[in-house]
Amino acid sequence: MNRQAKKPHVVWDPLLRVFHWTLAFFFFLAYLFESEELTMHSHAGYTVTLLILFRLVWGVIGPRHALFSDFLAPPGKVYTYLKLLFYRTAKRHIGHNPAGAAMILLLLITLLITAFTGMCLFAMEGSGPLANTFVSSWPGHVVEDIHEFFSNFTLVLIIVHVVGVLLTGLVHKENLIKAMITGEKRQDLDFPDNRPDEPHHGKNT
Ligand code: HEM
Ligand code: HEM
Repeated sequence: MNRQAKKPHVVWDPLLRVFHWTLAFFFFLAYLFESEELTMHSHAGYTVTLLILFRLVWGVIGPRHALFSDFLAPPGKVYTYLKLLFYRTAKRHIGHNPAGAAMILLLLITLLITAFTGMCLFAMEGSGPLANTFVSSWPGHVVEDIHEFFSNFTLVLIIVHVVGVLLTGLVHKENLIKAMITGEKRQDLDFPDNRPDEPHHGKNT
């Protein structure tokens, strides 16, 4: 019996989708133009910072599936989800799954650290919002190393993020990238939202 609803469900609101793709764009702009084009680099970095700040607010006041309370899960659930994903029996989530949610949290944190240390470097050259504050006296080479480390670490996380998106899309037989463009995901009557995590032997497609 086909228990899937015909009508797709709008899961990702327009602001969240614009946030996602502009964040991806400006991250790569900042990453690729890191030394020769410092103005472009810092402007792209500021845009990333503003986008992350928007997301932190949206995670508290946004629509249901944008809310942190809707998708953040304890480490135990992340582990269970990953284990079940390996056996291709993980429960499909209409919003972010627990592993995706953990990755989102990590990305937001590492992006914030990268942007903040970038601003500190700028402040040491006398520019930007942190110029002439206490950060100007921090050791420049240490801050530069931290900035470099976190920008590269974030890039690694992004690669894992995209691989994770493709893998979960394969297991749940849905195009998650298209969903992040249109906002729509299919509704699953067999597995409605917010059911507790449990294996269900691959019947969720
Ligand atoms: C360019 C290749 C990328 C693709 C194909 C991609 C795809 C996706 C998809 C499909 C989702 C939704 C996952 C789900 O269904 O639960 C998502 C979420 C997310 N991605 Fe990406 N992504 C990409 C790049 C990036 C980059 C470069 C960043 C960070 C700089 C990023 C940060 C995020 C964040 C923060 C979310 C959570 C969205 C939210 O709820 O705010 N992504 N991505
Ligand atoms: C989250 C976005 C950002 C990414 C991905 C990023 C990435 C990078 C990378 C890869 C480098 C080269 C590190 C090295 O080889 O030493 C760099 C350097 C630098 N970044 Fe960023 N950065 C970001 C945000 C910022 C911001 C917001 C600012 C300042 C407003 C900034 C200022 C700088 C400065 C001053 C340098 C040193 C450039 C040099 O002297 O060669 N960055 N960044």
